[in-house]
Amino acid sequence: MDLFTIVGARPQFVKASAISKEIIDLNRTKEFFINENIIHTGQHYDHKMSDSFFHELQIPKPKFNLGIGGGSHGQNTGRMIESIEKLLLEHKPNAVLLYGDTDSTLAGAISASKLNIPILHIEAGLRSYNKSQPEEINRVITDYLSLKCYAPTDKAVQNLLKENIHKDKIYRCGDVMADAIRIFSKRIINNDKFLSNLNLDKKEYALATIHRAENTNNKNILSEIFKAFSKSPIPIVLPLHPRTRKLLEKYKLNDFLKGMIILDPLSFFDMMNLQINSQLIITDSGGIQKEAYIQSKPCITIRTETEWIETLRTGWNILANPSNYQSILDAIETQMNLKKDLSHPDLYGNGFAAREIINNIISLKL
Ligand code: UD1
Repeated sequence: MDLFTIVGARPQFVKASAISKEIIDLNRTKEFFINENIIHTGQHYDHKMSDSFFHELQIPKPKFNLGIGGGSHGQNTGRMIESIEKLLLEHKPNAVLLYGDTDSTLAGAISASKLNIPILHIEAGLRSYNKSQPEEINRVITDYLSLKCYAPTDKAVQNLLKENIHKDKIYRCGDVMADAIRIFSKRIINNDKFLSNLNLDKKEYALATIHRAENTNNKNILSEIFKAFSKSPIPIVLPLHPRTRKLLEKYKLNDFLKGMIILDPLSFFDMMNLQINSQLIITDSGGIQKEAYIQSKPCITIRTETEWIETLRTGWNILANPSNYQSILDAIETQMNLKKDLSHPDLYGNGFAAREIINNIISLKL
């Protein structure tokens, strides 16, 4: 079977690593052969946002690098569609595998659907019900165009059914990010030097990440978030996304960074290491909310809603209003004092979602 995988942004590399590893293991058995070819759109292009992930997570080298990044949403998506269509026409794969909700996902979905190539969507069914987020538009359209929606949570399944996506198109599996954590956990835990190089003590800092367009593009919101960080009662370590770095400079908010530990974007292992050793995590990322939960870390999500609502039910994750620095400070206070005996149901599977997905793909006989 010829399978084209389309990725472009950092969280997709993490998810793809689990599936690619499973494909390599399957091919070794010689019972079935999947010829996976990876298209990297180039959406994330800095070495630290891209190449380091391929290297560390042992993802097969992309067969095609489109080099499309740095433009507006429309520009990037349009150029990606044009390039992906050319490749699909030339190679005629049996199916296209897409991840999550980025512009690269949307471009892959539009290109493949117009050529009647079946789409398999991993991390399907997530909804924030906030259409001002580019990710929400990308995921709704991709789910709608997919032959198979691989939904990681019960809520994701319900969301798809509510939108009249036929039950036969939905496959409930675990979350492949839990697979990535399982697969690489030994190497993450053994990597302790990183923390001492930063003069950080275990459990005595909060790890923060901010990059969402709705939080970074508005000067007032970005200012409230960083004002809260500058007043935080616990030291903040912040690996800075290039988008956020550019906008902090543009809006002249760099003064807020004094007193925080600011880092370049981190490799997956370094990021995991900082997560595991943190006291709490503050983020607007989807993936990091889940990683925090899987690793039993108190989390604050700086958004007005989240797709991963099951993390809120147990109290491990809480929302803080991005437009109000006091709301963020209150949330930090709450999560610093989180009870130790909170229940922790297994929300994201046992770390073997990739195997389930690959078995299901084989059964589709594409
Ligand atoms: C994208 C995804 C988001 C995902 C995130 C993970 C969309 C709509 N959003 O957001 O869902 O959570 O990736 O990080 O697809 N840039 C660089 N170097 C890079 C990458 C980006 O400088 O390696 C710059 C771009 O030129 C752009 C900005 O950062 O100006 C934003 O990048 P973009 O890929 O548009 O969106 P993200 O914010 O990363």
